[in-house]
Amino acid sequence: MAVKTATRLTLARRPRRLRRTGAIRSLVRETHLRPDCFIYPLFVCDGRGVRRDIQSMPGVQQLSVDEAVKEAVAAHTDGVPGVLLFGLPPSKDAAGTLASDPEGPVQSAVRGIKQEAPDVIVITDVCLCEYTSHGHCGILDGEEIVNDATVAQLVQVALSHALAGADFVAPSDMMDGRVAAIRQALDERGFERVGIMSYAAKYCSAFYGPFREAADSAPQFGDRRSHQMDPANVDEALREVELDLAEGADIVMVKPALTYLDVIAKVKQRFHQPTAAYHVSGEYAMLKAAAANGWIDERRAMMETLTAIRRAGADIIITYYAREAARLLASR
Ligand code: PBG
Repeated sequence: MAVKTATRLTLARRPRRLRRTGAIRSLVRETHLRPDCFIYPLFVCDGRGVRRDIQSMPGVQQLSVDEAVKEAVAAHTDGVPGVLLFGLPPSKDAAGTLASDPEGPVQSAVRGIKQEAPDVIVITDVCLCEYTSHGHCGILDGEEIVNDATVAQLVQVALSHALAGADFVAPSDMMDGRVAAIRQALDERGFERVGIMSYAAKYCSAFYGPFREAADSAPQFGDRRSHQMDPANVDEALREVELDLAEGADIVMVKPALTYLDVIAKVKQRFHQPTAAYHVSGEYAMLKAAAANGWIDERRAMMETLTAIRRAGADIIITYYAREAARLLASR
């Protein structure tokens, strides 16, 4: 049926003109996802040939060093430029001593990846929570984490990662002054080429739940509120980022991502520095669970989520979806 002339509006601006075809939409698209902004987290354990499923993170596994090397190379082949390594030590103690073991899973995986595929960007998580028997991120006095003694320990961890060949160390502990201490120690030992990606604005979040199963790092008592940030704060995030940059951070991170898109945007706009966002375990698990129930289209939800994080201002996205998203982008 022909449209009656009388029903026509006189409009100078018709935004739908720019949405009419795929080619036009692509022409005016403002945000582009590229595999080279993805970093892929890996959980490395002892043994050989181990691939252990993590129940709350479908598709993610604990990997022995040999398998982690294969996974990093496979991700690189998919177009993912780098990995972020977490370690599961064979045993734990109150001080998290094994975190700086030169033969630990992380240190061994760094060496293995660098030997097999030197171009892979290897970033290592620097924290004690996976290595302490109590699951806290530092050394305790009673139930309190002692800041400066913890920093001294973290420096040793970072040095062991640098010695193994890491490109970046990523302190996730949220102790005060750790970036400066790590920077100074790296420089004194001749590791000025090793960078620091600091978890600068890391919130005390419920969305780390599945990670704590994956990394066996749940605190045995209490919580992480004495060092991780209050979800209600944003000025404080900017102060944390400013401090870490002044102390020598090369890349600053906001974590989690989805519930802190405003923080990502402000950090990027204020400092104009390389900014990473961590799409954390709980955010991944929510999508996986909804998809498994048939409640959302996982691929679309994944791409929409990653696009939103980029649109907010993240240059780098750390995500368990890195390989899947990279493969999907390559197939388009
Ligand atoms: C601490 C650390 C955590 C995560 C990254 N580094 C957990 C925590 O602070 O309890 C969480 C990452 C995720 O949930 O995907 N080493």
